[in-house]
Amino acid sequence: MSFLSDKKGEHEAACEKAIQSGDAGRARMHAAKAAEFCFALARQSTGPVAASYVKTAEGWLEIAEKLKTAKLPKAQQPGGDVGKAAEPAAGAAAAGSEFEVAEIPSVSFDDIAGMASAKATIMEMIVYPMREPEKARAMKLKPGGGVILYGPPGNGKTMFGKAIAHEINAPFFYASGAQLRSKWHGESEQNLSRLLKAAQAHPVAVLFLDEIDGLLPRRTASSSVVDNRIVTQFLADVGGFRESENALLILGATNEPWSIDEAVFRTGRFDEKIYIGLPDAEARDALFAKAFDGVSCAADVDLASVAQSLDGYTGSDIVGIAKKARQAAFRRSIEQGADPQVTKEDVEAALRAIPSSVTPALVARYEKFNRERFQ
Ligand SMILES: Nc1ncnc2c1ncn2[C@@H]1O[C@H](COP(=O)(O)OP(=O)(O)O)[C@@H](O)[C@H]1O
Ligand SMILES: [Mg+2]
Repeated sequence: MSFLSDKKGEHEAACEKAIQSGDAGRARMHAAKAAEFCFALARQSTGPVAASYVKTAEGWLEIAEKLKTAKLPKAQQPGGDVGKAAEPAAGAAAAGSEFEVAEIPSVSFDDIAGMASAKATIMEMIVYPMREPEKARAMKLKPGGGVILYGPPGNGKTMFGKAIAHEINAPFFYASGAQLRSKWHGESEQNLSRLLKAAQAHPVAVLFLDEIDGLLPRRTASSSVVDNRIVTQFLADVGGFRESENALLILGATNEPWSIDEAVFRTGRFDEKIYIGLPDAEARDALFAKAFDGVSCAADVDLASVAQSLDGYTGSDIVGIAKKARQAAFRRSIEQGADPQVTKEDVEAALRAIPSSVTPALVARYEKFNRERFQ
């Protein structure tokens, strides 16, 4: 790293820090300085590298311009007040735009197999403070905050987000990073702000940002100007909701935690990082038990031992296998005009048809990430 890019990085980081602490003047100065060093880097380079530095510089100038008028929230002091946020939103919210459709989901914690420690964390962080506002206030605890849910696809991150909203009777706002980005190219950060505001219109809300790695990708020396703007704006906006009286829970979900910009983790916007891994033995049992609850199975179908054999499968693989077996039994009953019943062969055929959708190497990558980043 050269002197110039070191300086660029220093000012970028200082700008973020200033935004975080609510100091718009200082943030603006650092944004302008970051732009200055980007221009200097551009002058040292040629071709596409130079062009990308110029773009990044222009992005920082825009941020500096924005910071002239932006009202930044003051940094949250430890031990805020619970405020008036304790009343759960009554009824579902009206649909505003395609990103603001919010209703109270019907899936609950009981529908989710396993995830005992994830559920406990969320109960403590948001569900109990919401159910027992007086006690929470007495302990100077404010419900809500930011949580990153990460882990291999198909293990219930989205489902868990919905269930949290259900447990606190709150509308569920959903947007995926890719959606926000591609649809609103060049306007992603405004759109994100708009979404945050829509959620904040409710006393209690859950905002689920799926694929946040796509929204807040790790920035590099020559990151696109859009990336820089979005990350910076996001940090400022998310700082804002901590200030408000509302109980807003922001859930950021990702299959690729290693692709997220470091600042998102570093700046304390997301207090909790919850790993949603493959279902353990107990959860696999519960998934199978639920999938075959009330379903007629032949005497030789041993659900418990099949569930145990599915170590290394995702929750959605397991749900898929059960469904395939039920479908086979249904099809046969139509053909034969008999009562439907799942046989051992139906289950075995489903197991052959649906292999595990994750590799041991991928699972190992998450485990490595857990060890190195969040311990
Ligand atoms: N722990 C679980 N409990 C119940 N169902 C699960 C669980 N994990 C996965 N599933 C099933 O898999 C589907 C996909 O899960 P999803 O929430 O979309 O996963 P992710 O968001 O992690 O990719 C769910 O709709 C559900 O049917
Ligand atoms: Mg999902």
